[in-house]
Amino acid sequence: MKIRFSKLELPKDGSLVVFALKDKALSASAQAVDKALDGAVSRAIAASRFKGGGGDSLVLPSPGDGRWERVILLGLGKAEEFDALAVQNAGGRAVATLNGAGAKSAAVLLDPVEGGKLDGAEAAARAGFGARLRGYRFDKYRTKEKAEQKPTLTGLAIGTADAKAARKAFAPLDKLADGVCMTRDLVSEPANIIYPETLAAEGEALRDLGVEVEVLGEKEMRELGMGSLLGVGQGSTRESKLLVMQWRGGGEKDQPVAFVGKGVTFDTGGISIKPAGGMEDMKWDMGGSGVVIGLMKALAGRKAKCNVVGVAGLVENMPSGAAQRPGDIVTSMSGQTIEVLNTDAEGRLVLADALWYTQDRFKPKFMVNLATLTGAIIIALGNENCGLFSNNDELAGRIAEAGKAVGEPAWRMPLGNAYDKQIDSDAADMKNIGGRGAGSITAAQFLQRFVNDVPWAHLDIAGVTWSKKDKPTVPKGGTGFGVQMLNRLVAEHYEG
Ligand code: BES
Ligand code: MN
Ligand code: ZN
Repeated sequence: MKIRFSKLELPKDGSLVVFALKDKALSASAQAVDKALDGAVSRAIAASRFKGGGGDSLVLPSPGDGRWERVILLGLGKAEEFDALAVQNAGGRAVATLNGAGAKSAAVLLDPVEGGKLDGAEAAARAGFGARLRGYRFDKYRTKEKAEQKPTLTGLAIGTADAKAARKAFAPLDKLADGVCMTRDLVSEPANIIYPETLAAEGEALRDLGVEVEVLGEKEMRELGMGSLLGVGQGSTRESKLLVMQWRGGGEKDQPVAFVGKGVTFDTGGISIKPAGGMEDMKWDMGGSGVVIGLMKALAGRKAKCNVVGVAGLVENMPSGAAQRPGDIVTSMSGQTIEVLNTDAEGRLVLADALWYTQDRFKPKFMVNLATLTGAIIIALGNENCGLFSNNDELAGRIAEAGKAVGEPAWRMPLGNAYDKQIDSDAADMKNIGGRGAGSITAAQFLQRFVNDVPWAHLDIAGVTWSKKDKPTVPKGGTGFGVQMLNRLVAEHYEG
């Protein structure tokens, strides 16, 4: 979908989107439309339940003299709550409503909101960003879809008082949306298409943006001693890979920040095999590395002034004659040994070596890892917050703040010695499961055993990587959760 920014004036024809604040306070453009149509908008409001709340919408097909194909009125909520998220959501809702009505293009007339928290240009840019996010659709395999089932909207013109400033504010957001959409594509692709080698190739494509990319194969990883990661992939015919991306937008000598992703391209559970029902969801068990790759695309796309490392541990967890067995003991790159009591607790085994490698080689300012790590985090937090575990209050605070600001909230969970004891093993340095209680925390404790003094945070995104329902800026399916949050973390604290 093409987003344009134009003057704030009523077009002669086509589809229109205008706004009202809480308590039916029509924007200047909405009032002008109402007047041009001899009060058709006011009458429609009176005959409906539209109040101007942040979820309200009203579609008027060919109202009044019919000069406009349709007029859509969207509620924005209270003026004092008009912020980046509110207008982003409004942009997303505009797209959904226009597609629902069959519009091909439309003018969105976004007047300045008095008493709001954003200036006009920033608001217009955010509306465009929300529109792009909601306009996303993964439909490349729907070859027989009829035209009337497809979304109709191909372009949006956002009318604003300062189109030039809006264009400028939109440019980095457009790149951010590219990153989010790439992550969504990667998690949506099935596991016969995206496996370690092809996922690594997606990372390699970022070379076009100036990202330095290396891909390590099993031979290199064996030489590095990554027995923990390699054990997970040994049952698969697909070769395991380690994807290493570097964006050098900062000073020559600046320490980088680092992001590390779990990239299990399919998780059958291995020999500790999962039940059949719902196993297809495990195609998105590479969601953490999908976020890392999409984030690198966004940061490089907008030329972030920061040195950033992205590492993705890519494996397929399969049962086979070559697969790892429960009870096997593996030696990680750190030298620590692990008794693998359950081959389905594989994400932590992959991250153990990926985290160690990252801190060892890059000495980063901080490391944040993302992983669809535990079903238990879904029991704890549902699909609303991701779990946040950290050894550093400042980093945890910054992540929580960034997540809240972009609508990708992270809820801090505890770590501690008592939990750590749960993964002690009689046979090796540790075991890869910690018993029934506190499953997400013992998984995090496991990761922490591979982190030295560096500030570190682990985001358990199992509950937020896929959405079963549409949200204003997230169509159902792969969400890209994490890309906006971490882009903001970098922008707020580690650039310039
Ligand atoms: N990939 C799963 C976690 C998961 C579950 C992600 C549901 C998304 C949705 C992970 O590898 C796993 O299987 N975890 C086990 C750990 C257990 C064996 C200790 C789990 O959560 O059941
Ligand atoms: Mn598993
Ligand atoms: Zn998994």
